[in-house]
Amino acid sequence: MPNWLKDAVFYEIYPQSFKDTNNDGIGDINGIIEKLDYVKSLGCNALWINPCYDSPFKDAGYDVRDYKKVAPRYGTNEDLYRLFGEAHNRGIHVLLDLVPGHTSEEHQWFLESKKAEKNQYSDRYVWTHAAFQGIGGHPYIGGEADRDGCYMLNFFKCQPALNYGFLNRTEDWQLAPDDPECIKTREAMKDIMRFWLDHGCDGFRVDMADSLVKEDDENKSATGAVWKNIREMLDKDYPEAALVSEWSNPRQALKSGFHADFYLDHHGNGYNTLIRDNETPGGDHSFLKKDGNGDIFRFLDDYLPKYDETKDYGYISFITCNHDTPRPRRTLDYEELKIAYAMFLTLPGVPFIYYGDEIGMRYLDIPTKEGGYGRTGTRTPMQWDGSKNHGFSTACADTLYLPLDPSEDAPTVEAQEKDPSSLLNEVKALTALRHKYPDLQADGSFEVLYAEKEKFPFIYRRGKLMVAINPSDKKASVSLIDNDHFEDLAKVTDNTKLDDSHIVHSIGKLHFTDTHIEMEPQSFAIIAL
Ligand code: NOJ
Repeated sequence: MPNWLKDAVFYEIYPQSFKDTNNDGIGDINGIIEKLDYVKSLGCNALWINPCYDSPFKDAGYDVRDYKKVAPRYGTNEDLYRLFGEAHNRGIHVLLDLVPGHTSEEHQWFLESKKAEKNQYSDRYVWTHAAFQGIGGHPYIGGEADRDGCYMLNFFKCQPALNYGFLNRTEDWQLAPDDPECIKTREAMKDIMRFWLDHGCDGFRVDMADSLVKEDDENKSATGAVWKNIREMLDKDYPEAALVSEWSNPRQALKSGFHADFYLDHHGNGYNTLIRDNETPGGDHSFLKKDGNGDIFRFLDDYLPKYDETKDYGYISFITCNHDTPRPRRTLDYEELKIAYAMFLTLPGVPFIYYGDEIGMRYLDIPTKEGGYGRTGTRTPMQWDGSKNHGFSTACADTLYLPLDPSEDAPTVEAQEKDPSSLLNEVKALTALRHKYPDLQADGSFEVLYAEKEKFPFIYRRGKLMVAINPSDKKASVSLIDNDHFEDLAKVTDNTKLDDSHIVHSIGKLHFTDTHIEMEPQSFAIIAL
C-alpha cells in the first residue's frame, strides 16, 4: 500500500472546466498548475485528473486517440510534466485517468486493426470473422471497415473494445485471455502506465476496470488476473504508485490488486441511500436529507459486509460526486451538504471531492456536450470569483466550453472564503481534522456505536474518536447508558464521562447531559473519547 494513501484526500479535476489560462474558453493544464495552491488550501493532497490525452472528444476524452500525448487543447506533455513537479513541491500526488478497456475509433491501433490485411494490430480489438457475423450479447459494429468482420464496442459507438480475450469461449474468433495477442494488449497498457509514471505521475484512476476480459466468470477472475499482473509491475518498479478502480465492487477490485475502489452511485446501493435516493416514488428518502426520514440500515447493510471483507486489502472511496453523477447540490441544501461531506470525510478509506462541490456548485439543466448527455450539467466551469465568467476564463461567454451558473447567487470560491460559515470553510475544517487525527484517516478503525432502524442519530467510532450525526430536521437524543442499541459506553470511553468539553468539532448544536447525548436538528460532531 503506498504510504501516502493513508492520509490522502483527493480532488477530482475535470480539466475542460477548471481554469482557462490561454483564453480559448476551455480549461488547461497551466490552469490546474495556477490553482494548486487553492487545492492545497482546501486540504486536498491528491488529484485525479480526468483524461487529458489527445482525443476526438466524442466521450469527453474517454475516447483516447493517443495515450502518450496531452490533448493540444489542454497544453503539451511538458506542461503536464511540470504539473507533476509543481504538485509534488506542494505535497500533492497526481493520478491520471487510465482507459484500458477501449480506445477511440481514431486510435492508430484501431486504424491498423480495421485494415483487410493482417497486421500486428489485427487482434488488438475484438473482431468476428465476417461482417455478417455479429456478436451476441454485446454491442458491435459491422459494415464500416474493409476488414471482413464486426468489432465489439465497450461503451459508445466511437469506443471499440480492446482485446483481453474471453474466459468462456463459444466462438472460434474469441481468443483465450492468455493468448499471446491478448497478453500484448495488457503489455501495451503497462507500457503506457510506465510512460506516465516515469514522467512523474503517481498512479491512475482506472476507467471501467472490470470490463477487460469478456464472458468472465461471476467473480471476474480473468479480469482480476490482468490487474494482478499489472499490480506486480507496480509493486516491483513503482511501489508508491496508486491504482484506484472504477469497479464499485471492492471485494473483486481490492482482491485483484487495486488499492482503492469507488463506491459509486448505483441505484439502491448503500452510497445511493445516503444522499442520492431521490428516484424512488414518494420523495427523497436519503439518510442525509433532512426530511428524508431515511434508514441508516439501508447504508449499513450494504457497506458493512463490504468494509469488513476488504479492509485488510485496500480502501473503499466515498465520493461527493464525479463527472458522471448529478451534483449533490441538485437535491441537498448547504446545511445538508455540510453534514454529508462531514460523514464522507470521517469514514474509513480514501475520500474524493469533485471540483466545485466544496462550494456547492449547482447541477445545470443544459444541452449535451461531447457525449455528456445528462452528465453535462455536472461538468460546468469552476466558479472562482465575481469577475468575468466567474474567473474561469476571460474568453467571450458564448465561447466557453460549457455555460456557467447564471444565477444571481451562483456560489464562488472568493465569496465563500470570506464567509466563516460557508460550505467551503466547513470542508477545510473537516480535511484539517482528518489530517490531524490518524484515527480519522483511511486505516483508522471503524465501529458502529449507535444505529437504530429509522431513527437518528447515527454514531460511530473511529479509534479514540466518536462521530455523531443527526442529519434530520428533528431533535435526536440517545441514552449513553442503559441502551440496548449502544455499544457498552464504559468500554467505549474507558469509563470517562463524556461532556461538552469532549467535542472536538461540531456543525449545529449538541450537548451531553449526565445520561444522554442530545442533538439539535441537522447537527454533527466529532467527539474525543
Ligand atoms: C466511465 C467514465 O467515468 C465515463 O465518463 C465514460 O463515459 C465511460 N467510463 C466510458 O469510458
